[in-house]
Amino acid sequence: LAPGGDAREFLSERVAAALGDEFGSEFASRSVAAVTVATKSEFGDYQCNAALGLAKRVGCKPRDIASRVAARLPTDVFGIEVAGPGFINVRLTDDFLAQTVSALAGGAVPQTQTPQRIVVDYSSPNIAKEMHVGHLRSTVVGDAIANCLELRGHDVVRQNHVGDWGTQFGMLLAHVEDEEWESVSDLVGFYREAKRRFDSDDEFKSRAREKVVRLQAGDVETRGAWERICALSRIEFDEIYARLGIRIEERGESTYQSMLRGVVRSLRDKGIAVESDGAIIVPGDPLIIQKSDGGFNYATTDLAAAAYRTRRLNATRLLYVTDAGQARHFKEVFRVAKEAGLVPPNTELEHVPFGLVQGEDGKKFKTRSGETVRLKDLLDEAEARAAERNPDAAREIGIGAVKYADLSLNRESNYKFSFDKMLSLTGNTAPYMLYSYARINGIQSKLLDDDVVRGDFRITEPEERNLARLLARLAPTLADLESDLRPNILCDFLFDLSQTFNRFYEVCPVAQADDADQKFTRATLCAATASVLKTGLDILGIQTVDRL
Ligand code: ARG
Repeated sequence: LAPGGDAREFLSERVAAALGDEFGSEFASRSVAAVTVATKSEFGDYQCNAALGLAKRVGCKPRDIASRVAARLPTDVFGIEVAGPGFINVRLTDDFLAQTVSALAGGAVPQTQTPQRIVVDYSSPNIAKEMHVGHLRSTVVGDAIANCLELRGHDVVRQNHVGDWGTQFGMLLAHVEDEEWESVSDLVGFYREAKRRFDSDDEFKSRAREKVVRLQAGDVETRGAWERICALSRIEFDEIYARLGIRIEERGESTYQSMLRGVVRSLRDKGIAVESDGAIIVPGDPLIIQKSDGGFNYATTDLAAAAYRTRRLNATRLLYVTDAGQARHFKEVFRVAKEAGLVPPNTELEHVPFGLVQGEDGKKFKTRSGETVRLKDLLDEAEARAAERNPDAAREIGIGAVKYADLSLNRESNYKFSFDKMLSLTGNTAPYMLYSYARINGIQSKLLDDDVVRGDFRITEPEERNLARLLARLAPTLADLESDLRPNILCDFLFDLSQTFNRFYEVCPVAQADDADQKFTRATLCAATASVLKTGLDILGIQTVDRL
């Protein structure tokens, strides 16, 4: 087990192997091993609860099972004890803690054992339509997930699956023919007006249809107008991304156009898709892949994109961060993609859903006058409110607060947007975390200037050990985030870490420590805490401030 490494993972493997050796290979699995972080510190740091569940299956008393497994576990990094009816309590040795804390103080980030190429599909707004709070959620959550995976050593491809194709362009292109290009500056208003004409004017409607056909046929002039519209939208999107510090690669729906015919053909050849009332559908919970007018759908594009991402980009895990309302869409797309062999059989396809953003009243999130909130206005207000207290760090605090409020909640719950709550200095908020970081960073850098000499890392006080064992939990926390894709796990951990640090710092003087070893030990704990907070906030996409 490397210093800073994942003790839970290491222990899971060892317990699984021990179970296999003692009771047969069918028990040699990590899920049977059931190793968890200890609920209470008197039970040690990690615990294994496998024995109780296995008693019947292996015909052995739980305590005997536990003893037989415990006897096979390495004692150089773990103190091991069988307790109660058959729990195995595991305590990290001071030696391991010492090495871990120094590794973390040096900025180490626990790495994955199994690097993969992973596509994270997030943000993905639609051209000429509003980039709304739902897209903000996707952007913030998706970015945190991508950052985590990347820092852990995966090869991450960030994909912005922009809605830059489809029938809405017919209206836009027909409308732009009758308007001055200058009037397109307000694209959303432009879209609204085009839609109004489309719904009320038959001549306009058929002209719009014709435009779609021309666009798809590659007509140069139509294509040029389409490109101009996309470019205008992109300016607005990029402004938001710059403010949020997001880097993502655009690969919009239009880039898959040439693949769509082939996808439909291959599904028909395999008998997976059939004709129904002129359209081509995949029966079951039916998925329409080609409309009766010959046009392709959102789902068809996603099938092509999945093939592209696995076959061409060689990704083995594909993540899609969208609102929970698209769950059915992805379930069907994944099922068909596997069934048709568009993606290799063991590709991991995961929808990462999130709940709605609501106003403080629990209703749809709107402005006071009842309109949808523009993202730009929302970020402006967050910064303006942060500036009232803190003009020098208004951007970091304002933007950080918007992001952190979203990330610190379970993504699947609906989330009530509240400036007051997200900007509060107390509780699990961005301002609290940013102040904590600045304070600990200050303590830490002052110590560096001080006369801390390299000594022996020696834990004597319970508060020191508490902090060290929590720091060692960075690795399993990131592993959980990597598998469950829930950034709130990391927020909770960082909040816990700040509070645990405060308790440590209250009772353990650093500059006035008893001797050189104690001072070194405590200074290293301070440095490791600052470094882990920084790593965590970086993953969450929260920009830190060194002094506040
Ligand atoms: N453009 C879509 C929307 O605004 C989200 C796209 C998500 N990604 C995907 N591959 N379908 O709802």
